[in-house]
Amino acid sequence: MKHATVLTVLSLVAQVTSNQAPYRVSDISATKKRQPLTGRFIHITDFHPDILYKEGATIESGCHELPKGKDHDEEGSRLASSSNISIAGNTRTAGLAGKWGTGVSDCDSPMSLVNMTIDWLAKEWAHEIDFIVWTGDSARHDLDRNFPRTPNEIFQSNRMMVQQMQQAFPHIPIVPSLGNNDIYPHNVLAPGPNNIISQYTKIWSDIIPNDYEHIFERGGYFSLEVIPDRLAVISLNTLYWYKANTLADGCLDRNKDPGAFELEWLEVQLDQFRGRGMQVWLSGHIPPHLGMYFDNCYLKYGDLALRFQDTIVGHLYGHMNVDHFFFIDVQELEAPMPDAPHISEANLTSPESLVDGPPPRIGPLLEGSGRYRTMGRAANNFLQEELRKDFGEMPGPAKIKLKDYAVVNVAPSVIPTYYPGVRVFSYNISNMEDEDFWSDMKKKRRTGHRHRKKKAKHDCRRPENRDRPHCVFARLPRHYDKASPSRSNGPLSPLGYTQFFLPDVDSTRDIAPDWKIEYSTFHPRKLVPQSSGLTETQPPPVPLHLLPGYDPTIVSLYAANDVPADEGQRSKLVRFEEDMKHITPWKLKDLTIKNWVKLARKVVTRKKSWKKFQEIMYVSSDN
Ligand SMILES: *[C@@H]1O[C@H](CO)[C@@H](O)[C@H](O)[C@H]1NC(C)=O
Ligand SMILES: *[C@@H]1O[C@H](CO)[C@@H](O)[C@H](O)[C@H]1NC(C)=O
Ligand SMILES: *[C@@H]1O[C@H](CO)[C@@H](O)[C@H](O)[C@H]1NC(C)=O
Ligand SMILES: *[C@@H]1O[C@H](CO)[C@@H](O)[C@H](O)[C@H]1NC(C)=O
Repeated sequence: MKHATVLTVLSLVAQVTSNQAPYRVSDISATKKRQPLTGRFIHITDFHPDILYKEGATIESGCHELPKGKDHDEEGSRLASSSNISIAGNTRTAGLAGKWGTGVSDCDSPMSLVNMTIDWLAKEWAHEIDFIVWTGDSARHDLDRNFPRTPNEIFQSNRMMVQQMQQAFPHIPIVPSLGNNDIYPHNVLAPGPNNIISQYTKIWSDIIPNDYEHIFERGGYFSLEVIPDRLAVISLNTLYWYKANTLADGCLDRNKDPGAFELEWLEVQLDQFRGRGMQVWLSGHIPPHLGMYFDNCYLKYGDLALRFQDTIVGHLYGHMNVDHFFFIDVQELEAPMPDAPHISEANLTSPESLVDGPPPRIGPLLEGSGRYRTMGRAANNFLQEELRKDFGEMPGPAKIKLKDYAVVNVAPSVIPTYYPGVRVFSYNISNMEDEDFWSDMKKKRRTGHRHRKKKAKHDCRRPENRDRPHCVFARLPRHYDKASPSRSNGPLSPLGYTQFFLPDVDSTRDIAPDWKIEYSTFHPRKLVPQSSGLTETQPPPVPLHLLPGYDPTIVSLYAANDVPADEGQRSKLVRFEEDMKHITPWKLKDLTIKNWVKLARKVVTRKKSWKKFQEIMYVSSDN
């Protein structure tokens, strides 16, 4: 396939992606009735299950080995004299692995954490969400030289995770994507077809729609219509765009570079979904960030993000473990690449960035730190500062051209690099059943005028300028529409999300610690709707019983703005109001682009907001 002509490649893309069945999530969904839409979905990422994890093992050993040997006493007393980690009245000995996980460490997730997370998801969410976006890394890191990973172990780990997820959500579409630790060796993936991808064709055989099997075998990516004829999630294989993949070489030549071929496929997909008046979430493991992607892959991804902004409802990624968002914007894409700000992989938190080449012993990295948190915040200062700079340099409200911006959301991980996190999005489900509305949408997308930009700043005939936005926009249509869901609140717009976390991951108790709301982007009043009137089509962002200190009487008092009956009720109401205030730092009306821009401006102009933003980047794990 490497030497296929452009035409052959294009016709393959067309052949694979055309004549789609109207709707197939997995074959199970064909026989089981769908539940009514709830207007919510989950984004979960980076489980990193580790079956070698041992409670009480030393963190130095990657939580694999109990303190032992002739150094035992010495080590034991050193650990005992170091400070203990105190959690909700329980303590786990500092330096040793906890029962449910080891918060703020580079240890992977014990099965106890993985299981309790999936149990919680099944119990609380199986009937409360419409689909799941699951952005990869379902195997442990290759950090322990005594126990190097094998391909079989990685596939087995992924098989187990898919089985557990499917058991937990038998009726719900799940859209997984390939992480840089789901392959062997990590980061490095050859152009397909190859053995690794064909393993995933089997592991995800219930998930990948038949129509996409062929393209998946070749590239490790596919699309799934999570709401038939309305909404799709595209699972991208970001490894072909990832700079650390030494078997890929950017996105220049569609005949040679699997990353270029993938982008071309993506464009065809976007064009087809657009033609059907649908919306699309793009999802994948490694976020589209300059410095993480090959420059030309990043440029082309950015072009697509901005050219199909009337169809792409958002961008969901994992890998970083750090909760944040950033913008892809024309100005940055236009900037000559060498001068553009670079996040170097070495600056980032992901532990695997430490282990390019043979895995080192973990020990030496720990020298001088009582607790294994070497990669902690310091490693992410760069990211933090870069975000602050980028947000700070954005044009003011009067000058900014919103159509030049797309936002990328990066969710924190289940692996307790900080605290474990799971994100629940809400989206607008109005008009979903209104066929006329959607057929109008289809017409509008097909006939709506295409925007082209005439003026060229650079010489677009030069190869190095080809992918600069103004050259691309001059050559190819740019689809924007102020009324599209990523731009203004309407059917399928993201309304907000609620971030859950596990602050008591270090608990030593036998009963699993509780998942709690860390924060929500909503206004508190939106979390507690005033009435459950029959006209409401939009369920509350999270089931009410998950709100902090849930008490039905107090919540209805709050909802109705009623006067408390007595002093007891009054003080409970006050406490509830305080809790609600605490979890709603941003109070965003919805998650359309103007509100992301507003939020970015707020966090850089208000000291308090910046502090909060920093805190939640690390899943509020400051301790
Ligand atoms: C830490 O906890 C262990 C076991 O509970 C205890 O023996 C030790 O004295 C504690 N160390 C400190 C510094 O509190
Ligand atoms: C986790 O769940 C799996 C599958 O149900 C089970 O085989 C395993 O024993 C569980 N492990 C723990 C530590 O709970
Ligand atoms: C990030 O990495 C780059 C290149 O490796 C280096 O020049 C820069 O100083 C680093 N920044 C921080 C904050 O560590
Ligand atoms: C959903 O979109 C409609 C516009 O089509 C709007 O009237 C409604 O308020 C939105 N719903 C929510 C919950 O924001």
